[in-house]
Amino acid sequence: MAKEFKRYMITTALPYANGPVHIGHLAGVYIPADIYVRYLRNRGREVMWVCGSDEHGVPITIKAMQEGVSPQTVVDKYHAIIKDAFARFGISFDIYSRTSNPTHHKTAADFFKHLHDKGVFIEKTSQQYYDEQVEQFLADRYITGTCPHCGNESAYGDQCERCGTSLNATDLVNPRSTLSGAAPVLRDTKHWFLPLDQLQPMLEKWILTEHKEWKTNVYGQCKSWLDQGLQPRAVSRDLNWGVPVPLPNADGKVLYVWFDAPIGYISATKELTPDWEKYWKDDDTRLIHFIGKDNIVFHCIIFPAMLHAHGGYILPDNVPANEFLNLEGDKISTSRNWAVWLHEYLDQFPGKEDVLRYVLTANMPETKDNDFTWKDFQTRNNSELVAILGNFVNRAMVLTHKHFGGIVPPIAQLTDYDQQTLAELPRLKAAIEENMEAFRFREALKEAMNIARLGNKYLTDTEPWKLQATDPQRVGTILHIALQITANIAVLTEPFLPFTAARISQMLNLPNTPWDNAGNANILPQGHTLSPAQLLFEKIDDSTIQAQLDRLQTIKEQNQRLAAKAAPEKPAISFDDFTRMDIRIGTVLEAEQVPKTQKLLKLKVDTGIDIRTLVSGIAEHFTPEELIGKQVPVLANLEPRKIKGIESHGMVLMAEDLTGELRLLQPNATMGSGSTVG
Ligand code: MF3
Ligand code: ZN
Repeated sequence: MAKEFKRYMITTALPYANGPVHIGHLAGVYIPADIYVRYLRNRGREVMWVCGSDEHGVPITIKAMQEGVSPQTVVDKYHAIIKDAFARFGISFDIYSRTSNPTHHKTAADFFKHLHDKGVFIEKTSQQYYDEQVEQFLADRYITGTCPHCGNESAYGDQCERCGTSLNATDLVNPRSTLSGAAPVLRDTKHWFLPLDQLQPMLEKWILTEHKEWKTNVYGQCKSWLDQGLQPRAVSRDLNWGVPVPLPNADGKVLYVWFDAPIGYISATKELTPDWEKYWKDDDTRLIHFIGKDNIVFHCIIFPAMLHAHGGYILPDNVPANEFLNLEGDKISTSRNWAVWLHEYLDQFPGKEDVLRYVLTANMPETKDNDFTWKDFQTRNNSELVAILGNFVNRAMVLTHKHFGGIVPPIAQLTDYDQQTLAELPRLKAAIEENMEAFRFREALKEAMNIARLGNKYLTDTEPWKLQATDPQRVGTILHIALQITANIAVLTEPFLPFTAARISQMLNLPNTPWDNAGNANILPQGHTLSPAQLLFEKIDDSTIQAQLDRLQTIKEQNQRLAAKAAPEKPAISFDDFTRMDIRIGTVLEAEQVPKTQKLLKLKVDTGIDIRTLVSGIAEHFTPEELIGKQVPVLANLEPRKIKGIESHGMVLMAEDLTGELRLLQPNATMGSGSTVG
């Protein structure tokens, strides 16, 4: 970084308050930002971090419709759930606000008015889709259709979630209203457009030549947008939920949610301090937006264009966007309930906030999409947190209590190996810092864990437990070093594992230690008294993991059932064709597997007409015991057929569910065998 900044302004994407937050949100945006901000604060830098709920736009009104409540009820409910989940995970925003706040409405409206009065906008009447059945214009997600770029059949009117392209509703092939399912019609309506085409030269110079250091995924997306040529973009919508357009004759028009939401960063700063301008208008402030990859264009092109057009504001210095986190190999999806919800995790794994923080950081999708699996969660807990970090800290603590009554012993003499070990401390600290400054949090965490690895190796190599009888002074030196390593862990893992670091500090009785005092063996004075040892982590057993996998399996099956489509109808038959079938209720007397086959059962059935043999391909769906005694419809006059050498006289009729599952059809009261069906 060439420029020296005085302070940091950090923002994290405002999550839509249309559902709870999940592990994808945490891994993509809030954990990286939390690590970074904690690191900056620990180093004594001036930093402000704002966030809040995004409470406008069609995602909210659609959810309100689905839940049959008002948009206000939706945002009140989810804002509370989201805010609470973040707080419990230790996500340390300076403020978590919301865009329904009056300060925000005023800030966003004033921003729009300023651009309007400056003559920035193009006012244009254009044709927009309109649903005649519900008498409403169809903004953004109210319209779906086929993406012209990738063929995704359920692209939204503003964006295709599959290929990430940002769209205009009129780009969609086969557009449909999500409100009524009807094909929409085009109608005239007036809107305000931000002339991104005019701002293109400034954006090109700023991003493509001045910010070549941005992550390749971010720079690449910006470049591809700019290469395609920017178009004017509407910043208002025909909706009744949002910030009203602050102009006369604008009834029924609100600000586009992507216009108002990023201004929410500014409003939240204002709420927190009257001195907000220094964070947004001073060139010495370093503005950084943490976001997921679906938000890149809004934070790298549209919001900077707004800020620039307004004048007086700084532009982001970096936008370290992450890719996506998948769950067990499938895209996380709120609508398909394919997620690990934070509020559920917190209730199911109390006290294990840091375990999830650790696993999500270790798998952070920094350069490519990544996968969360419960198996990996278990392995990382058991063989990294328990076996490396927890084990080392526990050994150092317990041995000191055992041999020195919990008092930090003095150093007698340092061996070469001791010195070599201690020399690693400043090196590891510097490695963490270098990775932190470059937004490489996975690597930074690895280096932090290497401190615990170093400690474990040191104890294993020096074996102090064998020396107490012969050389207690040497044991004191070893434990002194082990405790200094532990103190380094307490300071240097704090950004990643704040709960654990606090517990280690508490065990060490360590006063608040600034980051810059770590990286050496002088954190704990000799003679310092430790608190009792406690275990930091516990093993997670297979049954806990299996319960989570079972839950996901149930959801997967539900989704398959919902997504399955009924087969198309067969060609028409005559009534006569139908009456030629002789269908009877039969009673299954015997059932057995046909030898050397997987699928076939041989049944003996009382059809009322006779007792006959039927062969049926249902052995993978039913056991013989499940069938004996059951009454089922039988097509009696089907031509006999030889199957595996057995003559089958007719066919048992069953229902096949959309996913291929078979179900028995049984009369709802016992009937005489031979009763007719028709
Ligand atoms: N609510 C948006 C989303 O979840 C993010 C808004 S970020 C902001 O994708 F900059 F607009 F606030
Ligand atoms: Zn697409």
